[in-house]
Amino acid sequence: MTANAVRLVEVGPRDGLQNEPRVLPTETRISLIERLVAAGLRHLEVGAFVSPRWVPQMAGSDEVMRCLAPLPGVTYSALVPNERGLDAALANGCREVAVFAAASDAFSQRNINCSIAESLERFEPVLSKAREAGIAVRGYVSCALGCPFAGDVALADVVRVSTELYRMGCYEISLGDTVGRGTPGKTKALIEACASEMPVTALAGHFHDTYGMAIANLYAALEAGVRVFDSSVSGLGGCPYSPGATGNVATEDVVYLLGEQGLQTGIKLEALVDTGHFIDQKLGRVTASRTARAVIARRGRTGERIPN
Ligand code: HMG
Ligand code: MG
Repeated sequence: MTANAVRLVEVGPRDGLQNEPRVLPTETRISLIERLVAAGLRHLEVGAFVSPRWVPQMAGSDEVMRCLAPLPGVTYSALVPNERGLDAALANGCREVAVFAAASDAFSQRNINCSIAESLERFEPVLSKAREAGIAVRGYVSCALGCPFAGDVALADVVRVSTELYRMGCYEISLGDTVGRGTPGKTKALIEACASEMPVTALAGHFHDTYGMAIANLYAALEAGVRVFDSSVSGLGGCPYSPGATGNVATEDVVYLLGEQGLQTGIKLEALVDTGHFIDQKLGRVTASRTARAVIARRGRTGERIPN
């Protein structure tokens, strides 16, 4: 990655769709992913090998994974909560997985039915098996800026879990503001605290937009040196185990911000807006992206499309 490049991890097909009330057929999920790739996304989280009783929207992730044509430079990843999830991911051709821990025990219990300590024990064999299979593992730390059940979360707890996942072999730690209550000052402190224990290049930001702070928090993390961000086309979704939380920062808004800052993402904004419109129609929702609304309104006024 060049010095002025930022990598986006598109989590709409997973984090986005897992929380939409309408469960989509796998063909629609695959079509969404293919459109995102055509728009220039190169790292996409396409599903989750979790219990379909816990998250029915992610059932069929095996079929989604199997139907995606491998493309040079494109990574399709999936969430796995345990060894069984990893086995299913591997059996369906997945070449990158993500384990998901939390910095709050209350959230960990509700999300994956075990404590933080138990989850880390569960991830050890996942990481060693993934290493043997030669596939990369990303690590999530949820509740990095607060917990939907326990409220404030100590920075020291976030740093401890992040460091542990990094030590276990996760190549990148995505710090999740699961509940979307963070603010830029807290984000800066979070990044600085984690970067004191691991390289800032191993950190990613994952911001939900519940209080409208996601893009501001992303910018604070960018200023603190982070160059990898998770985002969701059209600002889809949320987390089924984080009541009231809204979707991720919208990919369209991030692409606009970074482009205007002179940072390269390789993503075509107009094609991305069209992809957001495609999935919104399938879900019967309106976009949460301010940039998408502005682009669509401008097209209506002038017919103009931004050259990609
Ligand atoms: P459990 O009940 O403790 O475990 O659930 P279990 O071993 O007793 O299994 C329960 C059932 O799940 C059994 O089936 C198992 O066979 C099945 P049943 O007897 O009920 O028919 N099972 C599985 N099925 C498919 N794939 C598997 C698997 N493992 C067991 N891998 C478990 C524990 C982890 C399975 C469950 O709690 C679970 O699936 N949780 C998933 C929760 C989830 O996906 N949450 C959303 C993602 S996290 C997130 O969104 C945050 C993030 O975006 C970052 C941020 O914003 O902060 C990443
Ligand atoms: Mg999330």
